[in-house]
Amino acid sequence: MAQRTLRLGANLNGVGNSISFWRHPDVPVNASVDIEFYKQQARKAEEGKFDLLFIADGLYINEKSNPHFLNRFEPLTLLTALAGATSHIGLVATLSTSYSEPFTVARQFASLDHISGGRAGWNVVTSPLEGSALNFGKGEHPHHALRYEIAEEHLEVVKGLWDSWEDDAFVRDKASGVFFDPAKLHTLGHKGKHFDVQGPLNIARSKQGYPVIFQAGSSESGKDLAAKSADAVYSGHETFEEARQFYQDVKARAVAFGRNADDILIFPGIGPIVGRTEAEAESKYREIAELVDIQQALNYLGRYFEHFDFAQFPLDEPFPDLGDFGDNSFRSTTERIKREAKEQGLTLRQVALRASTPRSNFIGTPERVADQIQQWFEGGAADGFNVRTVVPNGLADFVDLVVPILQERGLFRKAYEHETLRGNLGLAVPENRYSGKVSV
Ligand SMILES: Cc1cc2nc3c(=O)[nH]c(=O)nc-3n(C[C@H](O)[C@H](O)[C@H](O)COP(=O)(O)O)c2cc1C
Repeated sequence: MAQRTLRLGANLNGVGNSISFWRHPDVPVNASVDIEFYKQQARKAEEGKFDLLFIADGLYINEKSNPHFLNRFEPLTLLTALAGATSHIGLVATLSTSYSEPFTVARQFASLDHISGGRAGWNVVTSPLEGSALNFGKGEHPHHALRYEIAEEHLEVVKGLWDSWEDDAFVRDKASGVFFDPAKLHTLGHKGKHFDVQGPLNIARSKQGYPVIFQAGSSESGKDLAAKSADAVYSGHETFEEARQFYQDVKARAVAFGRNADDILIFPGIGPIVGRTEAEAESKYREIAELVDIQQALNYLGRYFEHFDFAQFPLDEPFPDLGDFGDNSFRSTTERIKREAKEQGLTLRQVALRASTPRSNFIGTPERVADQIQQWFEGGAADGFNVRTVVPNGLADFVDLVVPILQERGLFRKAYEHETLRGNLGLAVPENRYSGKVSV
């Protein structure tokens, strides 16, 4: 059996997830809407032989939102441009099942998959923010459980549509005038609780079969959706032990659904801070943390709780008891914030600052960061990592200083093995459900 190797994603996010990152002198202020910035980052990640680029997204903003969220590119559009600027790296776009139609989603991702030569991926999310409903004329934002119910059906419909054409359906014989074989065209005819979709889809499968399915959302329902239907999970655990438990849990659920544990890859998000010395890495972190003011930090924290106004509470007293509040938005994240605040006796100020500028565990010299990655990878907490930029030039530092160590240790590739994202991730091409069966 081939040796198990590490996977790496580059989570590109313009002026950053951290609220004040854009104010640092070395950060280009228009990065979130500058295609040249994204192309340069994409090429750097490809130089580092990363498996994929990853673009997160959201569907609602207000004046309290992060600078990056206020003015940024739509992920599929952005990745279509980056497909032309790169040749091997995977292209994973976030798109919500709560506010999209399966036919359009299937078509858009299949198109990106063809345009990029089999490098597309879809990060399936359910949209945590209630305000999203206001932008789609859909009435009430669906509750957490309903969002996951919709997501499951949505994803099944999209996969069904992707199988509309068998791989050899297009004959394209000019002499006989036969363009396609009708026996190899399949009409889905889906009639479900949330979607009625006839099909067929007006685009065939790419050479990787389906785009790679990522899932982000770590509640019980999120884990089940991933275990049943996803190829990979983007998770947000900060400690090794939490990440290990999550990893074991999702793999066990996948096995319970009749899959192999290796059929699903777990990618915790990390924000490495690399310095030539420990002190240099620490000072890079402080430069960013010191730019944050507490009001912004409260806004940042509030977004996880439906833009809740935390300014009404005293800053230096214990974090307020919020009961179930937050369960309908970023549930797994709000549960963790509330749990840690209680267990560790944190004040509101501490919780807000920790949420807005978390001090990464992956901080220090290149060797130390590589050691941490190796420990998580070999210790059953990760198959790969989704690497965020949390300090200026963070991606370049990682590619130039950490990747060579991982390669030297035999943990990470020195050259791309395959042309497709599925191939590079070691994932099988899904069989067309109709192949070899008689068309109806
Ligand atoms: C690590 C992580 C990343 C996420 N990324 C996104 C995102 O980019 N866009 C989005 O709308 N929701 C994102 N979500 C939110 C989920 O899709 C979901 O709506 C919300 O977290 C509730 O699900 P959960 O309770 O299962 O985590 C993310 C969640 C997690 C845990």
